[in-house]
Amino acid sequence: MVKLPSPNRFKHFLRSLAAAALIVAAACSSGNPPAPATFAWHLPPGFPLPLTPPENLQTDAKFALGRRLFYDRRLSANGRQSCSDCHQQSHAFSDGRPTAIGSTGQTHSRNAMTLTNAGYNASYTWDSVRVRSLEQQARVPMFNTHPIELGVEGHQAEIVARFRDDPPTAAIFRAAFPGERRPVSIRNIANALAAFERALISGNSPYDRLVYGDDRNALSPSAWRGMRLFFTPRAGCSECHQGFNFSGESRYAGHPKTKPVLVRNGVTNGAFRVPTLRNIELTAPYMHDGSIATIEDVIARYVTARKLTLDATERANLAAFLRSLTDREFVADARFAAP
Ligand code: HEC
Ligand code: HEC
Repeated sequence: MVKLPSPNRFKHFLRSLAAAALIVAAACSSGNPPAPATFAWHLPPGFPLPLTPPENLQTDAKFALGRRLFYDRRLSANGRQSCSDCHQQSHAFSDGRPTAIGSTGQTHSRNAMTLTNAGYNASYTWDSVRVRSLEQQARVPMFNTHPIELGVEGHQAEIVARFRDDPPTAAIFRAAFPGERRPVSIRNIANALAAFERALISGNSPYDRLVYGDDRNALSPSAWRGMRLFFTPRAGCSECHQGFNFSGESRYAGHPKTKPVLVRNGVTNGAFRVPTLRNIELTAPYMHDGSIATIEDVIARYVTARKLTLDATERANLAAFLRSLTDREFVADARFAAP
């Protein structure tokens, strides 16, 4: 007997009741002054509400600005690179390279991470426990000098001026940060980017259609067996890749306090945050250094490193299951594409 992970239908039912109550409350309050703008998260079933920092509440206008900036090469000193060059939607916001290459051609030592469900992570980057918010993280590629990524360091004023002196762009900043004397600032660039990234929520894979949509045909028989195996102690995968995001510990509304944890998987050297396995089919090559090319190779490496007893069929089933975590809607979603 294998339990399906976390599809606690009763909890889910309660959650939808709570959401319905909010809608009713909102409808009843008509006649009062308009409530502050709220954001349509489009949460998939089973997904908790992301946490937003009080100093950077989520709004449509911030999301819209963040989306523009994410795709805007004016954010790099030499105008050659944007966030989206290393985080491409078709690759679930990774770049398909083993390790990333910055705007001036310098090689990064690390694989560009997927931004799938990044808003839920307890910490950011492969192995830092200090980068604790998306707002803070956005400054890393901007200001990094080892290697240079966007190369913003030393060019802050120039880059801010590019946006401020371009009236249509400046207007979008004003809409996102209404009433501020200097809406175009590095701080607001980071805030808007974080608002965009927080909305990159992905939870409509065949696995989700099985667990939350009761679609018994969503998985092939092989993927189904792979799913059962994934959650057994014998394979051990779910000891680390856990919860709704198949990742290390998640942070969300009602569950704000988490301690960043880095663990050793035995396959690679060093301790890293447990990454999500959602959309893993789209984010090859794998691991912090991009050293493993395929899902099959990853499984083979786990078998050796963790002395697992999985025969060839079981490995194939596990691979089929990992491919059932792909959300095609996410990588085609026009809301997340270049504006
Ligand atoms: C040169 C390629 C490159 C560019 C440009 C780039 N990134 Fe990244 N990104 C990476 C790499 C590599 C990592 C992993 C870094 C590490 O572990 O040290 C990463 C990690 C991240 C993470 C951490 C995800 C997680 O789950 O921990 C976020 C968020 C992110 N980038 C957002 C952005 C944003 C926003 C921009 C634009 C301001 C951006 N990136 C620009 C390569 C890039
Ligand atoms: C002890 C915790 C642990 C266990 C058990 C574990 N993993 Fe991982 N997994 C990690 C960590 C940590 C990483 C990141 C390591 C790195 O980047 O070097 C990772 C990385 C991965 C990646 C690559 C992710 C990416 O974005 O590049 C895949 C795929 C993966 N694991 C699948 C599995 C499968 C399948 C199993 C079961 C056979 C499994 N893991 C068991 C901790 C674990």
